[in-house]
Amino acid sequence: MSELKLAFSPPSINHSKFTISLFGICTTIVLIGILVLPSGSLALGTNSLSEINWILTAICLSVLLGVLSAAHLASDASPNLSGIRRLLLFIVLLIATNLSIRVSLPLLTESSSDLDIFVALPISAFALVATVLLGFNTGILSTLISSLVGVFVIASLPNSEAADVVLIFSTITGGGLSASFVALGAKRINDYLRGGFTIAGVILLSVAFSLPLSREFEPSQFISVGVAAMINGLLSATVGVGIYNVLSRPFGIITRVELMELAQPGTRLLRQMQEQAPGTYAHATAVADLASRGAAEIGADEQLVRAGGMFHDVGKLFRPDFFIENRDTDQSENPHDALDELQSTRVLHGHVAKGIERAREENLPEAVIRFIPEHHGTTYPAFFYRRALEKDPNIDQSKFRYPGPAPRSRETALVMIADGCEAAVRASSDRSSDQVLAIVKSIIRDRLEDGQFDNCDLTVRDIRTIEKAFTSALVAAYHPRIEYPEDVSNSDNLLRDQD
Ligand SMILES: [Fe+2]
Ligand SMILES: [Fe+2]
Repeated sequence: MSELKLAFSPPSINHSKFTISLFGICTTIVLIGILVLPSGSLALGTNSLSEINWILTAICLSVLLGVLSAAHLASDASPNLSGIRRLLLFIVLLIATNLSIRVSLPLLTESSSDLDIFVALPISAFALVATVLLGFNTGILSTLISSLVGVFVIASLPNSEAADVVLIFSTITGGGLSASFVALGAKRINDYLRGGFTIAGVILLSVAFSLPLSREFEPSQFISVGVAAMINGLLSATVGVGIYNVLSRPFGIITRVELMELAQPGTRLLRQMQEQAPGTYAHATAVADLASRGAAEIGADEQLVRAGGMFHDVGKLFRPDFFIENRDTDQSENPHDALDELQSTRVLHGHVAKGIERAREENLPEAVIRFIPEHHGTTYPAFFYRRALEKDPNIDQSKFRYPGPAPRSRETALVMIADGCEAAVRASSDRSSDQVLAIVKSIIRDRLEDGQFDNCDLTVRDIRTIEKAFTSALVAAYHPRIEYPEDVSNSDNLLRDQD
């Protein structure tokens, strides 16, 4: 996703003209509602301009911001705002942020010193949430909208002076932008909490310049504004983390922190894998390490790849003994001996269906579940197919192919490649860098020629980068060379491992 970048990554989205128009119209209507509808002491036009002038200006501003939002959606090909639920989430955040500004400012402007309280309000939390759940660009857009709404509202209030307008603009813009940058860089919950101090520092710096502009300026205001900025920063970070945790699942979004936590060894499913299928667990860990290293090199979603790598073979928990990595090397009985090639293939295929089932029971996010069918795509277990071919030259290859689909993202393609490379290099007796490079190249070439990367956005440059990254990681992982028992380095078993 980072989606955190946070969400699931490419394929990129081309929004329809209808969706773009609807998004712009909804944003406009929401803003008109927030700016124009309130009455009584909250009504517009309480200073020198007439109410009708303010209403017309509010409508113009709302239309302008609606067009800006539509332009954002039209130009943003990332999937952050794809689907009606995400668009709805944007509208929910839009209402929450701008309504807070609209209601609080008139109530706080009885005397200008009360605006210090506005500096303390954790409005930046919404920019943080928008960035985590909908992407960096959308976070910046939401800050831009709320800054202009804040400036408009404060300017419409009686006795507001230029210094107040600058103060409101600086607070919302400084806080919102810094919150988005904090969210962009955060990998763990603690990063957000530490980021609270960054948000506070940026707000203080932004606001400090506006204070001396005020007619009622007193130097002691620096202290009160400093305290207010600190409250804002810390509250924005903690409230923001709370809100995005509550909102992420109902809106079908997986956050980066959630992905990090999923891939931790202590989770129930991974512990179960460690106990019941230790070989598969070791393989999954190696695949996750390898694939996430490749993801870092080509700019794919590292956390998503790591989580996907950890769970890609979870279906092997169902019948662990049928998979070479879980059998003792001196174990004489091979359960496949009692089956013909097609039966063995069906058992191997079963780990995909069972894996999806198990992952759903454990409530794993759909973005992670996709790795289970896509890491095999529509490949086939070569060992059993070749053996069947020896017996019957007319055997139908399609019967041996996994149901797929082939990888639909660079992330699942990375796990497909890492899966093949890890098993092949582990089983090879020669792990010199030349040999490892040859293995990696042949795995990638085979899958490429088989059409497995036809539905994802891997470029030739990505493939070259992956080859280099995987080779150096695998050479480092298997150095110094350890003698493996004969049985494991046998090429037949290697092929069986490509289940
Ligand atoms: Fe597998
Ligand atoms: Fe695997």
